[in-house]
Amino acid sequence: MIFMMPNSVIEVIKSRRAIRSFEDKPVPDSAVETMLEAATYAPSAINIQPWKFTIVTKKEEIKHISDIAKPLLLQTLPDIADEGLIRFRSALANPQYNVFYNAPLVVFISGAKSTYAINDCSMAAQNMMLAAYTLGIGSCWIGTANLAINTPKVKADLGVPEDHEVFAAVIFGYPKGGFPKAPEKRPPQILKRID
Ligand SMILES: Cc1cc2nc3c(=O)[nH]c(=O)nc-3n(C[C@H](O)[C@H](O)[C@H](O)COP(=O)(O)O)c2cc1C
Repeated sequence: MIFMMPNSVIEVIKSRRAIRSFEDKPVPDSAVETMLEAATYAPSAINIQPWKFTIVTKKEEIKHISDIAKPLLLQTLPDIADEGLIRFRSALANPQYNVFYNAPLVVFISGAKSTYAINDCSMAAQNMMLAAYTLGIGSCWIGTANLAINTPKVKADLGVPEDHEVFAAVIFGYPKGGFPKAPEKRPPQILKRID
């Protein structure tokens, strides 16, 4: 089937940006609902739809998880004199630094451990980020939280059952100063084409 309408999905995909600076303004529940619904329309292996969501807007809880994440992350960084790493290490040692960039909303996506749950939940996360962008809401996946969000204490705080894993932490909020232009992306690297 050939679609003749202008392809707004491609435009949305191409102009979404990771946003790390937010206005001090909450994300309305109606927007959260739209984003969550978009997440549930993601494909999943054998349509198992493993995703479960924890919505956190409480600043103290977000900071608490960030404070658990920072020392865990510091331990994993290689001890080499790389300029970026040195900057990152000093940011992580700064009590003011928040791995969630003081975003007004963090959504954690978890699921029962299974072969494809990480893929399914990542699909759901991308759907959420694209849906957010169409609502004027910025987002950024926060991989630096990964270690912290799978500690028993944080999982319990987030209502995540012990036999589940938290696959994604994504921040949302209205971007301070609007959306910057999408960064330069490399063209696809095609290793081989077998026709
Ligand atoms: C799995 C994953 C983990 C990420 N973790 C972080 C993170 O911890 N902190 C951060 O600032 N950005 C993080 N990002 C955002 C990337 O840095 C960002 O997507 C990339 O620089 C490309 O920019 P763009 O999203 O504006 O195209 C992460 C993105 C992905 C997909």
